[in-house]
Amino acid sequence: MVWHGFTQMATYAENSPIIVECAEGRELIDVDGNRYLDAISSLWITTLGHHVPELDAALREQADLVAHSTLLGNGNRTTIEFAEALAGIVPVDEPHFLFASDGAAAVEQALKIAFQFWTNQGVTGRTTYLAFGGAYHGDTIGTLSVGAGGFGTDIFDPLRFDVVRAPGYDDPGCLTAACALIERHRDQLAAVIVEPLVQGAAGMQLRPAAEFAALGRACEAHDVLLICDEVATGFGRTGTMFASEQCGLRPDLMVIGKGITGGYLPMAATVANRRVYDAFLGEDLGERTLYHGHSYSGNALASAVGLAHLELFDSLEVLGNVAARSAQLDELLRERVAVLPGVAQIRQHGLMVGVELDPPVGASRWGRRVTAESVRRGVLIRPLGDVVVLMPILTSTAEEIERIVSVLAESITAVAGSETST
Ligand SMILES: Cc1ncc(COP(=O)(O)O)c(C=O)c1O
Repeated sequence: MVWHGFTQMATYAENSPIIVECAEGRELIDVDGNRYLDAISSLWITTLGHHVPELDAALREQADLVAHSTLLGNGNRTTIEFAEALAGIVPVDEPHFLFASDGAAAVEQALKIAFQFWTNQGVTGRTTYLAFGGAYHGDTIGTLSVGAGGFGTDIFDPLRFDVVRAPGYDDPGCLTAACALIERHRDQLAAVIVEPLVQGAAGMQLRPAAEFAALGRACEAHDVLLICDEVATGFGRTGTMFASEQCGLRPDLMVIGKGITGGYLPMAATVANRRVYDAFLGEDLGERTLYHGHSYSGNALASAVGLAHLELFDSLEVLGNVAARSAQLDELLRERVAVLPGVAQIRQHGLMVGVELDPPVGASRWGRRVTAESVRRGVLIRPLGDVVVLMPILTSTAEEIERIVSVLAESITAVAGSETST
């Protein structure tokens, strides 16, 4: 009955999916009582763990007040308080928050806002965007267009609009090339969209933080808006609350999602700075209004959990744990995984890791096979092609990191061994 995303349903059952019944801490428990350490943060969203007492309580308390009331033309106290709390941490000047339910919807909002920002000021011709090779910004038609394709989405190419495409992060000159493209296309560009530090879906492709400042300067110099997509990198994954902080970027628009509610409820937001927000102010029902909004925008249950999540993030000193665990992970991966036959490269920033496998010619689905071996050993991971992704929950313990690496090393050895013996 359930149609799973990015999943071939004809072979769904053959891939031994786990059916989750409940969770405890950083472990998911299936309907047969088997436990799995969640080493992908349930697709990069869980920050503090599952079934966190304080977040559960915040959800229940809000349910006793109101679950949802529309933000179209009206307000909700909890959502306002959440926006105020977020305003204190996002690297955006005098931020304003347009809430959505998923990362893709919030990116889509950013693209539309950037476009209308120019038309509201009578500027014409700013109808395209600069995006990077390898980029992933979601699955709606607009976000697929700024995305670089792949994952079987090429079938939608006839629906995608054109963008100015800079090279991907696997090209060391990509940011320099992007700056030159900004200068060349300055009169056509509504905005530049970038995943600061890490292109997650590209298989954890990285660029050094220092390279991004030039991109910010080029946008400023040529008056092109900068959109930082922090759906994957936000809320501590890279070692700071937001990756833009390390890059020295203060974007005009920032997109946040995934970890915004600690992984509890579907929520995302487009954050606009004062200059962008002000460009939409005008007469009631006038043309400058942003005619856009989603039914569940600013959901009160999600806001309550998001607010409790921010408080807990601070009191648990999560960023300190991210620093310690990412250093440990880096060391263990170098010692035990990088040295294995069948491993081409390890890319890591904070607690975002891609282990690129190097299957022999003719070998197929190594990523899938290695992760299946890990799941059999009780560690839940998921590949992106032949890149094994590790995205431990931010509160992971030293023992859990140790277990993730041991199981990964055993799983790679098992798959590489079976290949050479056949
Ligand atoms: C950088 C980035 N942007 C946008 C998205 C889309 O978010 P969602 O899956 O919540 O629509 C993702 C999802 O992985 C992402 O990594």
